[in-house]
Amino acid sequence: MGQPFGSYQNEIYFNGLGGIVPSYPMAFAELEERASAALPPSVWSYVAGGAGDERTQRANVTAFDHWGLVPRMFVGAAQRDLSVDLFGLKLPSPVFMAPVGVIGLCAQDGHGDLATARAAARTGVPMVASTLTVDPLEEVAAEFGDTPGLFQLYTPTDRDLAASLVHRAEQAGYKGIVVTLDTWITGWRPRDLSTANFPQLRGHCLANYTSDPVFRSRLTRTPEEDPQSAVLLWTQLFGNPLTWDDLPWLRSLTTLPLIVKGICHPEDVRRAKDGGVDAVYCSNHGGRQANGGLPALDALPSVVEAADGLPVLFDSGIRSGADIVKAIALGATAVGIGRPYAYGLALGGTDGIVHVLRSLLAETDLIMAVDGYPTLADLTGEALQRVA
Ligand SMILES: Cc1cc2nc3c(=O)[nH]c(=O)nc-3n(C[C@H](O)[C@H](O)[C@H](O)COP(=O)(O)O)c2cc1C
Repeated sequence: MGQPFGSYQNEIYFNGLGGIVPSYPMAFAELEERASAALPPSVWSYVAGGAGDERTQRANVTAFDHWGLVPRMFVGAAQRDLSVDLFGLKLPSPVFMAPVGVIGLCAQDGHGDLATARAAARTGVPMVASTLTVDPLEEVAAEFGDTPGLFQLYTPTDRDLAASLVHRAEQAGYKGIVVTLDTWITGWRPRDLSTANFPQLRGHCLANYTSDPVFRSRLTRTPEEDPQSAVLLWTQLFGNPLTWDDLPWLRSLTTLPLIVKGICHPEDVRRAKDGGVDAVYCSNHGGRQANGGLPALDALPSVVEAADGLPVLFDSGIRSGADIVKAIALGATAVGIGRPYAYGLALGGTDGIVHVLRSLLAETDLIMAVDGYPTLADLTGEALQRVA
């Protein structure tokens, strides 16, 4: 085992002896504030905003305040093991980067997907690459180094196009397909509506479509010659309101692990499991899709129970190492970081993301050390109490 994740703080304190303080924020509030200043207003409102008055989005975050970890002493947790086996992938930690379409636009050079893939290579934290990228999925995968990557599919209505995207992901070396179920239609987002801004309609982040042979075959003129027609075709193909009848077809598309994202109800977990998925992904899309919902964390325990041993990925509201620890203790197998890494990217490209991920992992590791939970298996529901 290499250096523990917590040693990031030693690096920072020792640098301080030479008069060097960290270039990037150490607390989420400052990260968010600085990212809001660094990003163009339209990108900022797209990334930071959510559905309705954003109550669900805020509740995702505050839900973590309702739980507390109970410290255990005389454990001697000198070494911690955060490694996890996720459908055969051996990962150094239970943390991954959730798919963020338009992450491409959060980088100063406009190639945020590549910067994110490079951060995955440097940290061992896998990237789930969105369908909506500035650079095609093959070019993103080429930057993963030894870190496995997953591909997130927005299932188009054109089944041949869906199959093509999945097969390209297989060819490019992705290790799993995450099918997102909650976004075949865009939720009501007042921040974006008030500036009438929807990046994809402006032709952004459609590289996986415009580079796809099936998509191109549906056009009379190439996307390079006639970008408007490509965008129009995209609007017609993008959103597929899938039903359970589509699951056998989705399953048949690939032998890679299939993960379904947006699952929050135990009955949906059972049906997905019966349909042969390899994992369920409990998420409410960070509150971007439907306002008025439960915080995703509150759905997690019943999802885990219904999964009955099937891996459960989780995101929505993770802002700190303490949040990661709590999600694991509530039964998540792996935990997705969303907006925080987008903000790190906005501030410092790959270096900014690496800083955000190392900070989250360091805090996770140090909480496990201080509170006497040396392995992820020690973090069970008994480690948590409801805050009175
Ligand atoms: C700007 C932005 C774009 C997103 N794009 C996608 C996407 O393309 N596919 C997807 O499955 N989820 C997408 N998500 C949802 C994330 O995967 C994740 O569920 C969410 O960010 C978690 O909430 P949090 O960032 O508040 O923790 C996006 C989220 C944001 C903030």
